[in-house]
Amino acid sequence: MTETLDRPRVLVTRRIPEVGLELLRAVAYVDVWDRPVPPPRDELLRRVAGVAGLLSLLTDRVDDELLDAAGPGLRVVSNLAVGYDNIDVAACARRGVAVGNTPGVLTEATADLAFALLLATARRLPESAALVTEDRWLTWDPLLLLGRDVSGATLGIVGFGRIGREVARRARGFGMRILAHSRRRAPDDVYRETGAEPVDLGTLLAESEFVSIHVNLSVDTWHLIGAEAIARMRPGAILINTSRGPVVDQTALAEALRTGHLFAAGLDVTDPEPMRADDPLLSLPNCLVVPHIGSATQRTRDRMAEKAARNLIAGIRGEPLPDPVPTPGP
Ligand code: GLV
Repeated sequence: MTETLDRPRVLVTRRIPEVGLELLRAVAYVDVWDRPVPPPRDELLRRVAGVAGLLSLLTDRVDDELLDAAGPGLRVVSNLAVGYDNIDVAACARRGVAVGNTPGVLTEATADLAFALLLATARRLPESAALVTEDRWLTWDPLLLLGRDVSGATLGIVGFGRIGREVARRARGFGMRILAHSRRRAPDDVYRETGAEPVDLGTLLAESEFVSIHVNLSVDTWHLIGAEAIARMRPGAILINTSRGPVVDQTALAEALRTGHLFAAGLDVTDPEPMRADDPLLSLPNCLVVPHIGSATQRTRDRMAEKAARNLIAGIRGEPLPDPVPTPGP
């Protein structure tokens, strides 16, 4: 079908899986920022002018400035992510701009990655692989690269939403004791089904050998895992973060990894992103950092693109979004 200018115009701020673009192209004129890095701010503000829909990524800040630049024709911002801390949802609500995200479809992939980081740090996989590739493997050694047992250990899950619960299901298969902390207590059957015990954050930090973070980033969770929380963690514990980088105070984390208070950390998210190669955390052999790949599987990204496209299409038509984000109260 040919694109015509009488269709609504939408901006997609990066290449996304084709399945999403195809859906959009059937109903709109689609402008795609077709580069491997996000559009510079001035380019984003220029391109968003006059669009009916914006398909944004977590690297795009959507705030009053951007909404002003877009103008009154903007009906919907559809984020290709489950998290939406990059969007000023209240500012969108004030202007009647709908906001959507992509929950559900990335739950398993992200839980898998949290568990991959947990296993990799517990069993020192990066150090072990480096020993081989750097030709330092001398022999089988009874004391070589001793790690931490996962089976039977206590795992603390901070944030017991979809992804946290899915991590609990994996942990159950490893015979772990599971503690869960969340702002709002989950229904009882969730604890029964996952085998997790609801606890307060202090108990979780004091008792867990592994702590895995699954909260949204907000003013309440910024540096939730700071020096004080880390000091309350068990000596020799391992911290896993697949949520958002700023939930952890990286200076405090680096110190705890350096002194050995923490055995290791596995991070899929950092502050800032990208983390530069000279970051102090990267000089520590017990810190494993990967580049925000929690949802990075082909199938998951296809599903995210499809969901984001469907939110966008509903929004430009003025229909309720299939996956709207909650509007903040007054
Ligand atoms: C990725 O971090 C997401 O929020 O989907």
